[in-house]
Amino acid sequence: MSEQPRFPSSSPQRGLRGRWSDDHFTLAWMLIAVVTCVMAIVAPGFLVQPLWTPLHAIALGVVSNGIFQWSWFFSRGLLHFPLAGVARYSTFVRIVVLNVGIMALFAAMWTGNVPTALTATVLICAAGVHQGVVLAVEAHRAKGNRYAPMVRYYAVAFFLFVLTCLIGGLLAYEMMASRVPAWLVAYADGIAVAHSIIGVGGWAGITILGTVVTLGLSMLHARQDSRALTSAQSALPLFLAAVVVASIGGVAGLPIMVGCGVLAFLAAAVGGIVAPLWRSFGVRKRSSHAVWPLLAGLVWTIVLLAAFAVEAFVAESVSVVRTEIIDQLGVFLAAGIGQIFVASLAYLVPVAIGGGPTVQRVGDVAVSFLWPVRLMVRNAALVLLLLGGAVGGGISGTVRTYLLVIVVATYAVDVVLVAFSAVRQLIAKRTKLEAKAIAKGRNMTMMKSTEKKAEGGND
Ligand code: HEM
Repeated sequence: MSEQPRFPSSSPQRGLRGRWSDDHFTLAWMLIAVVTCVMAIVAPGFLVQPLWTPLHAIALGVVSNGIFQWSWFFSRGLLHFPLAGVARYSTFVRIVVLNVGIMALFAAMWTGNVPTALTATVLICAAGVHQGVVLAVEAHRAKGNRYAPMVRYYAVAFFLFVLTCLIGGLLAYEMMASRVPAWLVAYADGIAVAHSIIGVGGWAGITILGTVVTLGLSMLHARQDSRALTSAQSALPLFLAAVVVASIGGVAGLPIMVGCGVLAFLAAAVGGIVAPLWRSFGVRKRSSHAVWPLLAGLVWTIVLLAAFAVEAFVAESVSVVRTEIIDQLGVFLAAGIGQIFVASLAYLVPVAIGGGPTVQRVGDVAVSFLWPVRLMVRNAALVLLLLGGAVGGGISGTVRTYLLVIVVATYAVDVVLVAFSAVRQLIAKRTKLEAKAIAKGRNMTMMKSTEKKAEGGND
C-alpha cells in the first residue's frame, strides 16, 4: 500500500492559459461530435460521409485529443517529470499539429482529395510518434518509480495509435483513389477490421484501461493498492498480444482468430484491471459520483466485448465481422467508452483546474448536477436499445431514433456541464487569487508603514 498519486493542476502562473486551455480542442470536438451524431441519426442526407464523419469526430476528435491531453497530464502527475524550456512549447505545438491534421483529414474525406488525406495522416502520426517517444523515454528513465508501468501503457497505446492511423490512411487511399491495386481491394474488409481493433481496442482501450487503475482508485479515495498496479503491469503484454492476434486474424480473413484475440483482451481486462478495482469498490468508505458512470462503462464494455467475441466465432467471413463492428460500434462507444470518458472528465477537470478544496468544490457541484438522473436515463435508453434489438433489428426505426437521441442528449448535457463547471471554477480560482494578491498587497503596505513609523520613532 502507498499514497495516492498527486496530479498536477494548472498553476497560478499559467492561469487561464494553462494546460486546460489546450483542452479547448477536446471540448470543441465534443460539440462537433454531438452535432454530427445528431445529424447522422435524424438527417444523414445532409452529412458528407454520414458514417465516417461522426465516427471520426468521436474517435479522432474527442477520444484521441482527450487521450493526448490526459495521458500527458497523468504521466506528469505519476512520474513528476519537469517541463523546461522548449518542452513546454512542444506540448502545445504537438496538439496543434494533431488538430490541423484532423481538420485537414476531414476536409480531404469530404472532398475526396487523396494527397491531402495522406498529408493529414502524416501530421497526425507525427504528433503521435512525438508524444509516444517522450512518454516511453520518461517511463524508461523512471524505471524505479512504481507508476512507470502505467506510463508504459500510454507509450504502447501511442505506438498502436500511429499504426492504426497509417492503416486508416491506406483505407482512405483505397476508398478515394482512382486506381487502387487489386490486392488492396481484396483485403479491404480485413484491413478495416484490423484498423477498428487496433484503434478502438488498442489505442482507446489500452489507454483507458491503463488509466482506470489509478483513476478508479483515486475516485474511490482508496490508497493505491500495489497488487492492483502489479496485476495491471502483468496484463499489458496480454493486451498487446490480444490486439495483435485479433488484427492479424482480421487481415488473414480468419474470424475465429479475431474472436480469440477479443476473448484474450477481455480476460486481461477483467483479471488485470476490473477485479482489483472491484475489490476496492467493495470496501470503499466514500467515493466521487464519477465512479458510477465509470463502473457502468466498464460493465457495458465487458458485456459487449463478450457478445462481439461470440459473433466473431460464428461469423462466416471477415466481411461479416466488419459489418458487425459497424453495427455495434455506436452502442459500444455510447455505452462503454463514452461513459468511462465522461466519468474521467467529470472527476479530472475540477482536479486539473485546482485552486484548493473550496474552489474545487465549486467545479464538483456544477459537474455533478442531477448525475443520478443522467446516468439512469442514459443506461435505461441503452438497455432498451439493446433489448429492443438495436443490434439485430426488432424495434421500430422511430423508437430507435428517439432512444438514440436520448443517449446523445445525456452526453450533450454532460459536455455542457463540464464546460460550465470549468468556467465557474476558473472564475472562483481567479477571484481567490485576486483576493490573495490584494490581501498580500495590503499586508506589504501595512508592513512598510509600520517599518517607517518604527524608523521615525528611532530617529
Ligand atoms: C489518420 C487517421 C485515420 C484515418 C485516415 C482513418 C480512415 C478511415 C477510413 C478511410 C475508414 C473506412 C471508412 C469506410 O469504409 O466507410 C475508417 C474506418 C474506421 N475507423 Fe478510421 N481513420 C483514422 C483514425 C482512426 C482512429 C484513431 C480510430 C479509433 C480510435 C478509427 C476508427 C475507425 C473505425 C472503428 C472504423 C470503421 C471500420 C470499418 O469501416 O469497417 N480510425 N477509418
